[in-house]
Formats: sequence, C-alpha cells, structure tokens
Amino acid sequence: MKAIDLRNKYLEFFTENGHKVIPSAPLLPENDPTVLFTTAGMHPLITYFLGNVHPQGRRITDYQKCIRTGDIDEVGDDSHLTFFEMMGNWSFGDYFKEESIELSYRFLTEKLGIDANRISVTVFEGDQDAPKDKVAFNAWVKAGIPEDRIYFSGKKTNWWGLEKGPCGPDTEIFYDTLKPKCSDNCSPLCDCGKYLEIWNNVFTEYNKIAEGKYELLSQKNVDTGLGLERVVMILDGKKSVYETELFVDVMNTLKELAGDKYIEKSARVIADHMRAALMIMVDGVVPSNVEQGYVLRRLIRRLIRHMRKMEIDMDKIVEIANITVEASKEMYPEIDEHKEEIITKLVAEKDKFVKTLEKGEKEFNKYLIQAKNEGKDTIDAEKVFKLYDTFGFPVEITEELATENGIRINVQEFNELFKKHQELSRQGSNQKFKGGLANDSEIVTQYHTATHLLHKALQIVLGEHATQSGSNITEERLRFDFKHPQKVTREELDEVERIVNEQIQKDLVVKCEEMTLDEAKESGATGLFENKYGDLVKVYSIGDFSKEICGGPHVERTGNMGRFKIKKEEASSAGVRRIKAVLIKE
Ligand code: ALA
Repeated sequence: MKAIDLRNKYLEFFTENGHKVIPSAPLLPENDPTVLFTTAGMHPLITYFLGNVHPQGRRITDYQKCIRTGDIDEVGDDSHLTFFEMMGNWSFGDYFKEESIELSYRFLTEKLGIDANRISVTVFEGDQDAPKDKVAFNAWVKAGIPEDRIYFSGKKTNWWGLEKGPCGPDTEIFYDTLKPKCSDNCSPLCDCGKYLEIWNNVFTEYNKIAEGKYELLSQKNVDTGLGLERVVMILDGKKSVYETELFVDVMNTLKELAGDKYIEKSARVIADHMRAALMIMVDGVVPSNVEQGYVLRRLIRRLIRHMRKMEIDMDKIVEIANITVEASKEMYPEIDEHKEEIITKLVAEKDKFVKTLEKGEKEFNKYLIQAKNEGKDTIDAEKVFKLYDTFGFPVEITEELATENGIRINVQEFNELFKKHQELSRQGSNQKFKGGLANDSEIVTQYHTATHLLHKALQIVLGEHATQSGSNITEERLRFDFKHPQKVTREELDEVERIVNEQIQKDLVVKCEEMTLDEAKESGATGLFENKYGDLVKVYSIGDFSKEICGGPHVERTGNMGRFKIKKEEASSAGVRRIKAVLIKE
C-alpha cells in the first residue's frame, strides 16, 4: 500500500468513527520552548488534555510530522527514523480505554487486513502511581487477543508523557516480523527487533507536576500514535522501512553511486538524515551552532560523513536531495515548493563542512599517529577539544573517527573542558555588557524584540515581500534572513535603522495574547512560516507597530534596548538577504 493511501485510510476510518481531521502542525513547536521539535502527535494538542475545548470537538484525528533526535543512534536498523509520520486519534474526555483498543484492533485487522495472529500487546503492570491496567487487559481479550500475547510491564515501556504535563499508562501494539526468537524469553518487551512496535495508545488521565509526582486530570483522554512508515513496511511485506516506496529510490541511487564501496547502514543513515534535514529546512531552520539549527547541522554533517565513507563524490549530494524530494513530495508537497531554497542551503553547508573535515581529519591523523607511537589507547581530551575549538570539528565525529581507528577519546574530560570554556566566554560577554544589563538572557530577549521591529521596518522600506526566512540570535547580535531579490542599498538600510530606533525610543508596550491561528491571522498578525497550523498561538504586539505570531520571549517595553545598528547586509541564498545587527548600549 502506498504511504499516502495508508494515511487516507486512517483518517477515513477515524472520520467514520466520529473524529474530525485536523492538519499536521509544523516540526517546530509553537508554544513550547522546552523542546526543539514536535516529537509526537499530541504535542501541539497538550492544552486539550488539560480540559480546554478543541474547536473541532472531543474526537480528533490527524497525521503529524515528527522529529526524534533521541533515536539518531538507532538509525540504520530496520525501523528507526529521525523524521517520521505519526498518525493519531485523540479523545479529549470522550471515549477511553475500551473503545480506543477496539478501534485500533478493528483498523489493523479489518481495514488493513493485518493478520491478527501476528499481533501482540503490552499493558501497564501498575506501581505506586497508578494501578495495574486490568481494563486495558480485558479490552484486548474482548477484542480478540489471546491472554498469552498480552504482556505486562512497568513505566519504562508502558507509560507515556513528556517531561511534565499530561501522561498516563499506555498499551503498545506489536507486529511479529517472524524473525527468529532471540532467546526463550523473547517477547515484545525485548528490543531484538522480532516484534515491531507499530502503535501506542496512551490513556492520558494523569498530570505529571514534578519528578515522581502525579495528579489526576479533570478528564480522561486518549492519545495514540501509529508509525506510518512501519505500517507501510508491514503491508508491503518489506524487511525494513528503507525498502518501502518512501526510500527505495534513494537507496538504489546510493547503491549505484557507491558501487563496491556500498555500506547498507551508511546508505540508510544518508536516506534518513537527508529527508529529516530537508523537512527541517522546509520549516525555516538554517544550519547553525544552536538549537534546531545545530540538530540540522549535525544531520547534514553526519550524512556527509557517510557519503565520504562510501567514497561518494560530494557534488552528488544534490542528486540525493532531489531524489528525496521526489520520493517525499506526494506526502509533503511543501518539500517540493521549497526545493530550490533548501537545496541551496544544503549545498552551502556541505561546502563549509567539507573544508572543516579536510583540515580536521588531517589534524586527527596527527594525534592518532602520535598516540600510537606513544603506545596510548586514548587521545587526550585537550586534543579533542582543540579539534573542536580551533578546527570546528564536532566531538561526535571525533568519536566516530576514533572508533573507526580503534582508539578511544575521553568524552567526559572533553565535556569538562567544554564547560570551562563556556564559562569563560560567558564571563567575557558579561563584561562586554557591564553597566547596562542584569543578565545575558535579557539581552537575548531584547534581540528577539529588535528582530520583530526589524522585520516590520524592512517591510515598510522594501515592501511586503520582505518576509522572514530565518533568524538566529546570540548574546552578541541578531541575524535575520528575509526574502528580497537584490542588495539592500545603504539609504534603505539607514531608513530601516531610523525606523527601528524611532520605535525603541517611543518606549512601546509589548503585549502577548494567546489565540487560535485563525484568529491570529484575522487580527493581521504575520507568521514566520507558511504552514503553521498550531491551535493556540502566541501573538506579540509592539505598540501598534508590529504584530507577529511568535513563541517569545520579548521585553515588556522597548525603551531600554539601546541603539539599533545594522552591521552587515549580504546575500544568504538565492532571493534571500541576511542582516546582522546589534544593540549598542550607550
Ligand atoms: N504520544 C504517544 C507516543 O508518542 C502516542 O508514543
């Protein structure tokens, strides 16, 4: 079955069962500064588990683009992906365990025709926080799963929630791949790969308020997640997700490009990371050294390392990206719409990294020979740090190179050096701002607000096309990418500066309101990305001057921000310009 058909079947089935379909939210969470990416379908919906009423009702279904960086090291096996699609159905205080289990079972066996004999499940065994889930157990028996294919387990496997907030016991649904048992005790509770988890139904009736502290929510909810790629794999009788239509073309291309240097695991990493990186860039992220930009950089750099491993010409990265776009565009048309711009960014990052790699590997080899000559089995942490600090060589790559060459590095010691270094640079930047400000985060907050002022001023001076395509803020400066076909003239920059400073001097009040995306759009707020379908969004208004959908944080008033000065204007990628600007404390 094609992935798109599975997605449609899922939405259809739950629509038939009283659910309303909502669109996928973007990969970047809009209202949650604690996580970098949306990791589950429930993520953009948290507020409705707590009792807020969803405009579409109590039964909702959707597909959600997700990124799980926690799984990055598993990528290369048959079923883990960093970017994947989670199909979900939710009950906000409506149906509970029994109906949820019955719906899942019917969808799998009746709608998809999956052999019921190959399904087994796990259920929460109970502990001091919540009782043994006999209701779920009985519901499975009633649905048709024999007792000996129902396994009880504890919080580690059968409890689901984010760091804090709505959570509860879950029941996981597994498919028997028919691989041999890894031992006599082989079951869905071991991770040998024989039993593939395809769906998780969470019975979200608790609220985690602190570590080990749970309260009952005011309503009983259901949160489920079905792994789309895994189910396509099962339905097509494939051994791995990489053999499905979603990846098979890119895998075949890699096979051809690598010839006899082909390594299956490396090809899988490339196929996965390429799709994830492109999808992250679709949501406006550019490679950088912080937050989402850093994850993106790491994905791109890792895939390049694996290209090198198979001796694939670096220029072929464009071909691999193009094929990935082709294979993904039916599911995610936005990847095709942004194709030019994201591939340009990818190539720019590749060029940068290739240079870094060449220099860094040369240096690493020196250390390697030196260590071996001295009979050591570890490369000193100072050297690893030098690679990082002077050569921009990510420690993960040093680790990978070390493993390949049968030598060790001391990561713990490296981390200590890293911390010490961070502390020193923090002290340095505190000094730069001394006299003016209480702490660094205040500066970052001011830069956030200055970014909104700049965005608006650019639109006034250059026209409404000058919308944001990326932003990056450090304690030292803001960097802002926006759409504009040609160089911005000195006169235009002067006018932009003048407008921003005028607004700062007016000491405008910054106001934050929460509303639905539709309300936000109606109110005239601008959004960062085209595909933001989050439910509740924050809208920041700066006086009457600017109104933007944004997660914040922002200053309360603009008065004390200092003088805004544009330091640099340059091309970022085709049709995109970049401004670096500072706030000068006088
Ligand atoms: N939120 C649940 C999960 O991600 C469904 O597994």
